[in-house]
Amino acid sequence: MAAAAALTPATPLRFKPYSTLRFLSFYSKNPTNPRLFPPLPRRSVPSHSTFHRKRCFCSVISAALQSGEMKKTEFAEKKVGEMGNKVGEFRKKVKIANIKGGPDEGLNWVGQTLVVMGWVRTLRVQSSVTFLEVNDGSSLSNMQCVMNSDAEGYDQVESGLISTGASVWVQGTLVASQGSKQKVELKVEKVVLVGKSDPSYPIQKKRVSREFLRSKAHLRPRTNTFGAVARVRNALAYATHKFFQENGFVWISSPIITASDCEGAGEQFCVTTLIPSSREAADSPVNAIPNTKEGLIDWSQDFFGKPAFLTVSGQLNAETYATALTDVYTFGPTFRAENSNTSRHLAEFWMIEPELAFADLNDDMACATAYLQYVVRHVLDNCKEDMEFFNTWIEKGVIDRLNDVAEKDFVQLTYTDAIELLLKANKKFEFPVKWGCDLQSEHERYITEQAFNGCPVIIRDYPKEIKAFYMRENDDGKTVAAMDMLVPRVGELIGGSQREERLDYLENRLDELKLNKESYWWYLDLRRYGSVPHAGFGLGFERLVQFATGVENIRDAIPFPRTPGSAEF
Ligand code: 4AD
Ligand code: MG
Repeated sequence: MAAAAALTPATPLRFKPYSTLRFLSFYSKNPTNPRLFPPLPRRSVPSHSTFHRKRCFCSVISAALQSGEMKKTEFAEKKVGEMGNKVGEFRKKVKIANIKGGPDEGLNWVGQTLVVMGWVRTLRVQSSVTFLEVNDGSSLSNMQCVMNSDAEGYDQVESGLISTGASVWVQGTLVASQGSKQKVELKVEKVVLVGKSDPSYPIQKKRVSREFLRSKAHLRPRTNTFGAVARVRNALAYATHKFFQENGFVWISSPIITASDCEGAGEQFCVTTLIPSSREAADSPVNAIPNTKEGLIDWSQDFFGKPAFLTVSGQLNAETYATALTDVYTFGPTFRAENSNTSRHLAEFWMIEPELAFADLNDDMACATAYLQYVVRHVLDNCKEDMEFFNTWIEKGVIDRLNDVAEKDFVQLTYTDAIELLLKANKKFEFPVKWGCDLQSEHERYITEQAFNGCPVIIRDYPKEIKAFYMRENDDGKTVAAMDMLVPRVGELIGGSQREERLDYLENRLDELKLNKESYWWYLDLRRYGSVPHAGFGLGFERLVQFATGVENIRDAIPFPRTPGSAEF
C-alpha cells in the first residue's frame, strides 16, 4: 500500500491524448499548451507530404454504425464523462525527415511554425546567436535550430542544462538557412529541456571506433552510422514482406522452441528448466539437476518432458505450411551455438525462409534472385540519404555495387565446376580445395569477387555428404539439389535446396545418417499425404544488412549482437 501511495501523484493527472503533451505541462514554465502539431492551413501543406493525413479508424466506426451497433457507441459516449475519458486520436508526428526529406529539402515549409523533438547532437554558442543541432532519428539530417538570447527557455542554454545528448522540444519558425550546409533552419521561439544529459555522455562529436561503440550498444543508435544502419535494416525488412506479399506468399511464424535439429549440425542452445531459473542461477549446486539411475540427465522431468532447443531454422515447419498454402515464408530469429568469432557469424540472427510448393531448384534460384534484386532496389530508391552516407564513409562504391546487383543477371554454376575453377585459380588458399570439400569463406569470396568480378554467383548441386538430410538427391546419386548464393564481401548470403519429396529416399537418407526416424514422423507424413516437389531457401538477414550497407562486421548489422562470450544489453 505504502509503495503504491508513493507512486501515485498527489494531484491526479488529467490524461490528454499525447503523452508528450502530458509531460510538457511539467516542463513548461508557461503552460499555454504548446502545440505539437501546429495548425497548418491545408492549402499550404506541401503536396508530397502525408503528415497531416490522420490515422483514423473511420471505416471501423462507419461500419459499426451501419451494422446496428449505434446503440453501443451512444452508450460509450454517454459513459465518457461519467467515468473515464475518450482515448485520443492517433496522429503522426512531424519528423525532421518529413520536413527536410522532400525534393526542395524543406523550402516549401518555410514560414511555418513547427515543433522538433529530439536529441542534441551539438551546441555552438556564438556571441550573438546559438546553434543547436537536433536529431530525431528520422533521417541523418539534423534540424539546425538558431536561437537568440530572447528565445523562451534560453536560460537553459546559458546555465549549461542543454548540452550534447540532452533531449529537447523546440518550437520555432522554419526559415531559409544562411548557411550552405542546409536549405532551411528553425528560428527558435521556445526551447524546453526534456531530459538533461550528464557530462559523462560517451557519444561526443569526435569519431570513435566501432569496437568502442559496441560496448555502448544502448547509445550507439544515436550516431550517424547506427541510425543509418537501423533505418536501412528497417527498409530491408519492409521490402521483404512487400516482396513476398506481392507475390502471393503467406507469412508463417515458425516456433522458436523446437525438439528437432533442422540442419543436423548439433549447434543448438538447450532450453530447459532443469537448470535453475535466472533468480537461482548464481548459487545453485550441480547435483540439483535431476538424473536417472544410470547417472544421466532425467529429461522426463524437464519442462517439455524431453530435450528442447532454440531453433536453428524454421524450414521444417515452413514445409508443413507450404504443402497446404503453396507459397509461404518465415521471418524470425534463429540461434546457433557455433563457436565462430568471425565477422559473418552471430549466435542469434534473423532468417528469411521462403518455401515454394510445386517448385524445383530452378524456381528456387529464380525466387532468390528476384527477391534480392527487389530489396536492393527498394533500399536504393527509398534510403537515398543513408546510402550516400555509406557510400562516403563506410564503403566507397556501395551504391554502384548495389545498382549492378539490381540490374545485372546472376551467374549459376555447379559445385563441380566451381571446384575446377578454384583448382585452376592462380591463388594459394589456406584451406586446400578438392571435390567433396566444403567451400570456405575464402573460396566463396574468390569466386564472387574475383572470378566473377563482383557479380552474385549461385553454386548448385553440392556433394550430398556435406549437405543436410532433407535435400533432394540428384540422379547421379552423389550430389543433391542444393544451392548457395555467394555475394561480394559477405560470401554465403543464401543457402537453399529442393527438398526430398520421395518418402523412400528420405527414409533411406535418415537411416544413412543414423537420424531417429520416429522423431521426424510428422515431417515424413508430408511425404505420405499429397507430397509435392518443393524448394526453399534461407537468407541471413544481418548478412543482407552487411551487404546493403557495406558495414564490415555483422555485429554492427544487428542492434544487440549475441556472440560467444557476449550477451550484454
Ligand atoms: O545455410 P543455412 O544453414 O540454411 C538453412 O538453415 C536452411 N534450413 C535454409 C532453408 O533452406 N530454409 O543458413 C541460411 C543462411 C546462410 O546462408 C547465412 O546467410 C545465414 O543463414 N546464417 C547465418 N547468419 C549469421 N550468423 C550465423 N551464425 C549464420 N548461420 C547461417
Ligand atoms: Mg549454408
